[in-house]
Amino acid sequence: MTTSNGSLVCVLLTLVVIEAAPQSALVTQLPGFDGTFPSKHYAGYVTLDGNPPKNYFYYFVVSENKPLQDPVVLWLNGGPGCSSFDGFVFEHGPFNFQPAETPGSLPTLHLNPYSWSKVSNIIYLDSPAGVGFSYSPNTSLYVTGDTETAQNTHSFLLKWFELYPEYQANRFFIAGESYAGVYVPTLASEVVKGIDAGAKPLINFKGYLVGNGVADHDYDENGFVPFTYGMGLISDQMFKEAVNACKGIFHDPNTEACANALNKIDIAVDGLNIYNILEPCYHAPGSNEEVFKRTNLPPSFKQLGVTEKPMAVRKRIFGRGWPLRASVKEGLVPMWSQLMANEVPCVDDTVATTWLNDVGVRKAIHAAAESVSGPWELCASFSKLRYYHDAGSMIIYHKNLTTRGYRALIYSGDHDMCVPYTGTEAWTASLGYKIIDEWRPWNSNDQVAGYVQGYDKNLSFLTVKGAGHTVPEYKPREALDFYSRWLEGKSI
Ligand SMILES: *[C@@H]1O[C@H](CO)[C@@H](O)[C@H](O)[C@H]1NC(C)=O
Ligand SMILES: *[C@@H]1O[C@H](CO)[C@@H](O)[C@H](O)[C@H]1NC(C)=O
Ligand SMILES: *[C@@H]1O[C@H](CO)[C@@H](O)[C@H](O)[C@H]1NC(C)=O
Repeated sequence: MTTSNGSLVCVLLTLVVIEAAPQSALVTQLPGFDGTFPSKHYAGYVTLDGNPPKNYFYYFVVSENKPLQDPVVLWLNGGPGCSSFDGFVFEHGPFNFQPAETPGSLPTLHLNPYSWSKVSNIIYLDSPAGVGFSYSPNTSLYVTGDTETAQNTHSFLLKWFELYPEYQANRFFIAGESYAGVYVPTLASEVVKGIDAGAKPLINFKGYLVGNGVADHDYDENGFVPFTYGMGLISDQMFKEAVNACKGIFHDPNTEACANALNKIDIAVDGLNIYNILEPCYHAPGSNEEVFKRTNLPPSFKQLGVTEKPMAVRKRIFGRGWPLRASVKEGLVPMWSQLMANEVPCVDDTVATTWLNDVGVRKAIHAAAESVSGPWELCASFSKLRYYHDAGSMIIYHKNLTTRGYRALIYSGDHDMCVPYTGTEAWTASLGYKIIDEWRPWNSNDQVAGYVQGYDKNLSFLTVKGAGHTVPEYKPREALDFYSRWLEGKSI
C-alpha cells in the first residue's frame, strides 16, 4: 500500500469517528434548490415503541459555523397540531421559499442569510404523532395531550441522541412558539426528570426559549384589553368602560356589562390580521370566512385585500385566540377546522403545502409517501387529532426550571394580538424574581429592535418591535441577533 493510500485511509477513519450520524438520513438534494448546501442536512424517522408505534419525523440542519461546539436546539411549532416545517419554511430555516408564478408549481429555494443554522444545530420536529409527517401505522384519529406529548418527545430525544452521538456533549436548548409555550416547558421538565433519574444518553440541557407562547389562561387573556388600548385600536372611552365593568379582569366575564364592553372591543378589532396588526388581512377570492359572515361590516370592507397578492404566510397557525377569546383552557383544545368553516382568515400557506406534498420533495427528505402518512398539512384538523390541554398553567413549570438553574428567554413580537406581549410581560413579572437588568432597548443593526428586561435566575423577557406572532418571519435579522447573543450567554 502506498503512503498516499495510507493517509487516505486515515482521513476516512477520522471522518467515521466524527460522523456517526446515520448516512441513510443524509439529504443530498432538494427540489427547487440548485445551489450547494452550506452544511449537512439529515431527515428521517425515529420510531417510538408502543402499540401502535409512533414514527416521529425530524429534519436536522447542522450548524454552518462550528457543529461540534455550537448548541443543538430543538424547534417546535405550536397549534397544537402544527408541523414544525412552519418554522423551517416561513421563519428561520436554511432557505427562503420564493412562491412559483404558476399556482401549483414548486417554489424556488434561496439560502436564508438569517437562518438559525448560522449559529446552532437545529432539529425541526413534527410532534405529536399525527402532525406533519409524523404518524402511526393505520391510525386515522390521534388522541393525545400535553403530558403524553412531553413524554413522547423526551423518548424521541433520547433515541435521537443515540443516533447522533457526536452531538451528545453539545449544549442543548429547547425552543418553540405559540402553543409550544406549553410544549417547551413540559418537555423541559421531562428532560430534567430524565437527567435526575440517570436516563441515558445524558442530555446536556441548558435552557429554553419561547416566542409568543401560551402560558396561562388568565394572564394570556387579561393582556388582550390593555394591548388593544395601548396599540390605539380602541378608544379611551371603551377602555375605561371595560376597566370599570370588568374590574380589571378581562377573562371569563361574569356580568353582562363586562361582556358587552368586551364585545365592543372584539368588534373594533375583528377585521385585523390577528398575527400582526400592522399587516394587511389577505382574503382568498370567494372565501367564506366565518368572521366576515358574523360581523355587520359593510360589504366593501369584506372585500378588503381580495386583490392583494397572498402573503407568504400560512392559513392555520392556531395560537390561542381565534376567534378572539377562544383561548386555551383545560380540556379538549378546539382545532381550526371546528372554529372556522373554511380557511383561517388573513394568511395563506400555499408555498409550504405545495412543496411538502410534492412526491420528489417527500422522497428527498425521506418522508413517508402520502398513502402511508397522509397529506402534509400545516396544522392537523379535528378529524385527525384530538388534543387535550392537561398540564394546566405553565407558570409553575417556569418557576421550577429557572429555580433549577436552567436559562429561559421569553420573547414576544409586540404587534401580535394572538398571544399579546402584555400578558406575557405580566406572567414573567409574576414569578417575582428580582429585576437585574431593567427594561431597556436592545439593538440590531444599530437600531432599536425592541426592549428587554432581565431577571434574576437567568430569566429574560424580550420584545421585538414591529414583529407579529412568528417573530423570525417578520424580523429575521433581529431574530438571529437576539438568538445568537442569548445562546452564547452574552448580554442582548
Ligand atoms: C396496517 O395495515 C396493513 C395493511 O392492512 C397491515 O399489513 C399491517 O399489519 C397493519 N399494521 C398495524 C401496526 O396494525
Ligand atoms: C415543581 O416543583 C415542586 C417542588 O419540587 C414539585 O412538587 C412540583 O411537582 C413541580 N411541578 C412541576 C409542574 O414541575
Ligand atoms: C446563569 O447562567 C449562567 C450560564 O449558564 C450560569 O453560570 C449562572 O450561574 C446562572 N445564574 C443563575 C442565577 O442561575
